[in-house]
Parts: sequence; C-alpha cells; structure tokens
Amino acid sequence: MSLNLVTLLYLVASVCFIQALKGLSHPTTSIRGNFFGMTGMTIAVVTTAALIIKLADGHMAGLAWVLLGLVAGGGYGAWRAKTVEMTKMPELVAFFHSMIGLAAVFIAVAAVAEPMAFGIVHSADEPIPAGNRLELFLGAAIGAITFSGSVIAFGKLSGTYKFRLFKGAPVVFAGQHMLNLVLGLTTVGLGLAFMATGSWTAFFAMLALSFVLGVLIIIPIGGADMPVVVSMLNSYSGWAAAGIGFSLNNSMLIIAGSLVGSSGAILSYIMCKAMNRAFINVILGGFGGDATAAVAGDTPQRTAKSGSSDDAAFILGNAESVIIVPGYGLAVARAQHAVKELAHKLTEKGVSVKYAIHPVAGRMPGHMNVLLAEAEVPYDQVFEMEDINAEFGQADVAIILGANDVVNPAALQKGSPIYGMPILEAYKAKTIIVNKRSMAAGYAGLDNELFYLDKTMMVFGDAKKVVEDMVKAIE
Ligand code: TAP
Repeated sequence: MSLNLVTLLYLVASVCFIQALKGLSHPTTSIRGNFFGMTGMTIAVVTTAALIIKLADGHMAGLAWVLLGLVAGGGYGAWRAKTVEMTKMPELVAFFHSMIGLAAVFIAVAAVAEPMAFGIVHSADEPIPAGNRLELFLGAAIGAITFSGSVIAFGKLSGTYKFRLFKGAPVVFAGQHMLNLVLGLTTVGLGLAFMATGSWTAFFAMLALSFVLGVLIIIPIGGADMPVVVSMLNSYSGWAAAGIGFSLNNSMLIIAGSLVGSSGAILSYIMCKAMNRAFINVILGGFGGDATAAVAGDTPQRTAKSGSSDDAAFILGNAESVIIVPGYGLAVARAQHAVKELAHKLTEKGVSVKYAIHPVAGRMPGHMNVLLAEAEVPYDQVFEMEDINAEFGQADVAIILGANDVVNPAALQKGSPIYGMPILEAYKAKTIIVNKRSMAAGYAGLDNELFYLDKTMMVFGDAKKVVEDMVKAIE
C-alpha cells in the first residue's frame, strides 16, 4: 500500500467523521451519522493495520500483537456497548476516555524510549527534536490527566463504590485550588525541562504529577456535574490523541483527535449553558452539597395532593391537549414503551399529545431523544424546550414523568442554586400530573415548588407501573 493511498484513505475517513458529527446533530439524521462514523472508523482501522503490515516488513510477532489488540479491544467494546443500560452510558463513556488517555500515555512513553522505531529520529544517537518533545509532553500530560480524571468520574457516576473519592459528594479541603495551581505550574515546568534537556527524570516526574492532578481536579466536582466533566474529559482525550498524532506524523490521529477535542469542548459549553452554569464554576466544583443540606434543614413540612393512576387516566382522557415531560426517572424505569402506548391511546381518543424535551433532562445530552426514539415515538410529536415552552399556558395537562429539576420553578428565584437555568414551563399548564416514587429531591438536591401547587396531583410509584396502569384505565 503506497503512502499516497494511505493519505487518501485517511482523508476519506476524516470526511466520514465530519459527516457523522453533522448527522448526529439531529434525531432524524442520527442513524445516517452513526453509519458514517462506523464507515470512517473501519476505513481508518483497516488502513492503519495495512500500514503496519507494510512497515512490519515480515516481522509477524509485532503484527500479532496489533491483531490481538484489535480483536480483544474491539470485542470488549462491542460487548459493553451492546449490553450497557442507557442510564449507565455516561460511565461507559468515562471508561472509554480513561482508556484513550492511557493509550496516549503508553504511546508517549514508548516514543520517548524508542524514538527511532516511531520514525521521530533516524539514528540511535540523534536526540528527539524539541518540537517532538513538546508534542510528547502535551500528549502524555493530557493523557495522564484524562486517565486518572476519568477513573474518578467513572466512580462518581456509578455511585456503587465505598471508596471516598468515588462518592458523588464533592471532596473539598482548604487550599485545594492553590495546591492544584502549584501542581499544574510544576507540571508545566517539568515539561519545559524535558523539552529543553530530554531528561527522563523530568518526563516521568511530569507524568506522575499529571496523574495526581487528574484526581485532584475531579474530586471537588459533585456527581451532579459529572456529565459535563465527562464531556470535558472527552475533549481532553481528543487533544491528547491529536498531540500524539503529531509525534507519530499520523494525519488521521490529528484530525480525529481535533474533531473529538473541539466537539467535546462545544458539548461542555452547551451543557453548561443549558444549566446556566459557568464552565469555570463547574470545574472549581462544590455544587450540590450545600443545596441538599439547605433543603433538608430549612424547608417546612408541607403536603402535596396525591392521586392514583386511575385518577390521572381520567384527567388525561378528558383533556384536549397534553404535554408529556420525560425525565431521568422515566429512563430508570425504562417506561418509554409504556409512555408511547399511553400517547397512542390518548391520540386515538382525539387528544393532542406532544413531548417536551429539556436539553439536560436525564443524564447525558440527547438522553430523552434516544429513549423516545427507542420506543419509536414519531419525531413530529417531540419538541425541544424553546419550541414548546410557549404552549404550556394553553395545555390542559402537563404530565411529568420522572423529571424534577428540569421543571423546577426554583430556577426563576434569585439565590437558588439553579437560578437562571432555563426550565420547561410546565407550571403554566391548567393541570399538572407528576409521577415519581416519593417526594425526594432531584439531581440538584432541591425541593420543587411545583409539587405543592393546587393544580398539581402527584401519582407515586415506579414510572413504568404507573403509566401501564394509566393505559389499562384508559382502555
Ligand atoms: P432529576 O432532577 O434527576 O429527577 C429525576 C426524578 O426521577 C427524581 O426526582 C426521582 O424521584 C424520579 N425517579 C427516579 N426513579 C424513578 C422511577 N423508577 N420512576 C419514577 N420516578 C423516578 O431529573 P431531570 O428532571 O431529568 O433533570 C436532570 C438533572 O441532571 C438536572 O439537574 C441536570 O442539570 C442534571 N444534568 C444533566 C445532564 C444532561 S446532559 N442530561 C448533564 C449534567 C447534569 P424519586 O426518587 O422520588 O422517584
């Protein structure tokens, strides 16, 4: 395979990746986007494997390792992606990012140890050029931070480990930001020392500090902000790959890394905007802990009106227009098929049914869109927040299924931890039905005034069971 053909195939793969990102920006084109992504990745992997075979020049042992890596990594990835629950997707993504970070570290260490094997130098006593040392330093440092940061993010997202650093609550201590700043500057200093001298000691000290920094940067961030962190780490992993791509002179790695790096950064920005949080405020951490304490301590005991699934079905069946607000609880209960059935029954009775999607409903971007698409809910019934908010005022019923923060009017009150977060204006509907299992707070740890309104009826229970009962009652 000639190098020109390799470059051409890498270019085709890059165009596929760009098309994939374009396609994934809307539910109707997401399948096409995925197809482009898979095609691009297949072309990239096969081309790189062919290139390795060419460069291996008959050394079958090295080739066997590459094939073993492809089969083991590809097989494990396919199995995990097939079996993972939708609600566990952010953890899986954090795990994948940690692997990308670690791969960047391994490649950088190997390239520093054997620069000739990577084509960085042409003779054993030639020093690594300063430009390559900079790329290797950046790739290794960002990779190490991505690895250890993603491991902590994985633990915090899963919430099942007893280890203190894996707890959802922020881990904060006096002088934390100053310590991070000092460690960050020392890491940069060691990287510059490696650049100037090529010293192994400086390189490994820089690497060790980067691993520690990854942990220290993520532990003060609460579980509630982890999806933003995962998307930020996604961006880091892309930049680490791009940095290593420069060292290896691999245009595919540079382009794919840059696409991942910039799209991850844009996604983090969009998520912060949808929660009205400044990115720097997320990174500095501490969100969530105080709010939960305030709710537990300050809120007087109040009672909310509750009813049964049959009551809710009666109200829904007599409405002219209903807006369904899905949230994280709907995903946990896997109630999307039951909801589609409910909407179908209501539509048959002549009720107008629409779904309202908040940009950060659930635990990852597009979570609710994916969930509803899985149940084959027609796209023309699904509306984004800015397109549906004006309709809540005229809606007979807003039915909120397993959602909390995204409809919490506390976002309109100055001083609230979620003040300024745009919300679905469900509180404007003539009647509100809320399904959740208890009066427990949502992800931000805040009480929700909406539950106590005169026009609100709580229907307690698991979303799937409650919605299935409503369907039976309507029948
Ligand atoms: P939440 O505010 O987390 O509320 C979900 C509600 O679902 C809970 O109050 C819970 O109450 C209920 N629930 C849990 N399991 C249930 C079940 N089996 N059946 C019925 N109800 C159940 O969810 P949301 O309104 O979707 O808001 C998402 C939150 O995540 C926001 O705070 C957002 O900022 C944050 N976040 C999201 C993202 C992205 S990208 N989506 C990123 C970062 C942060 P009970 O325990 O009483 O049942």
